[in-house]
Amino acid sequence: MRASLIASVLALAISQVTADYNQSAPFTIILLSQNSTLNGASLAACHEGAAIEGLCLAGGKFGEATQFTYNTSSPDDKTGILAYQLIGGNFNVSCPMQFSYSPSSNVAMPIIIPGTTSTLVGFDRIGRMFVMRYQDDTQPLPNNEETPQFRWYICQTYYGYPYQTLVWTVGIKAPQNPTCVSAQPVRVFV
Ligand SMILES: *[C@@H]1O[C@H](CO)[C@@H](O)[C@H](O)[C@H]1NC(C)=O
Ligand SMILES: *[C@@H]1O[C@H](CO)[C@@H](O)[C@H](O)[C@H]1NC(C)=O
Ligand SMILES: *[C@@H]1O[C@H](CO)[C@@H](O)[C@H](O)[C@H]1NC(C)=O
Ligand SMILES: *[C@@H]1O[C@H](CO)[C@@H](O)[C@H](O)[C@H]1NC(C)=O
Repeated sequence: MRASLIASVLALAISQVTADYNQSAPFTIILLSQNSTLNGASLAACHEGAAIEGLCLAGGKFGEATQFTYNTSSPDDKTGILAYQLIGGNFNVSCPMQFSYSPSSNVAMPIIIPGTTSTLVGFDRIGRMFVMRYQDDTQPLPNNEETPQFRWYICQTYYGYPYQTLVWTVGIKAPQNPTCVSAQPVRVFV
């Protein structure tokens, strides 16, 4: 009896971790950029460490454009989880994208790691990926708002390897990494 109670508590805990999401159809992410090398390029998940992926330019050793999905927990959600199916020898797990921040940089790196921590993103009417701003701290606070922000770049980064990856700039200033080139990710359903 006690064992079955523990088992059902565990089952409840697990069912709460795997929350009830609506998963979108699969899509790839392409870049819009004034830089002709980057314009039209696609993103591919790339190995940055054990079960850690960055978002690299597709092609060459990184292969084809990766397919992602978008998880929301209510039809009214303006933001949700960018999800990637990480498949290995003995695992097949849907992983969320989260930003990796460094206190000494305004360049944050989107990475994909198994778990439940994510950085929420949204997609506007034409599929452009954004991060929602809820407070504008350049103005007197509080000033609740919901304003999509588009601060994406492709830069030479080093999380586990020297790659060209998608990054997010924290704040309104230009990225301090001098290799960054402005590029807007857009989802394209497959
Ligand atoms: C265009 O982007 C590529 C790849 O990031 C970069 O090597 C090149 O310097 C960029 N060109 C310009 C004019 O910014
Ligand atoms: C999933 O989508 C369906 C159809 O739009 C909707 O009825 C349902 O409430 C959604 N569920 C969640 C968890 O968003
Ligand atoms: C991985 O899991 C997904 C979702 O459950 C499934 O659609 C897919 O076929 C699986 N892939 C492999 C290689 O097992
Ligand atoms: C996305 O939603 C699907 C369907 O509910 C779920 O199986 C998967 O674990 C979710 N992935 C993430 C990263 O939340």
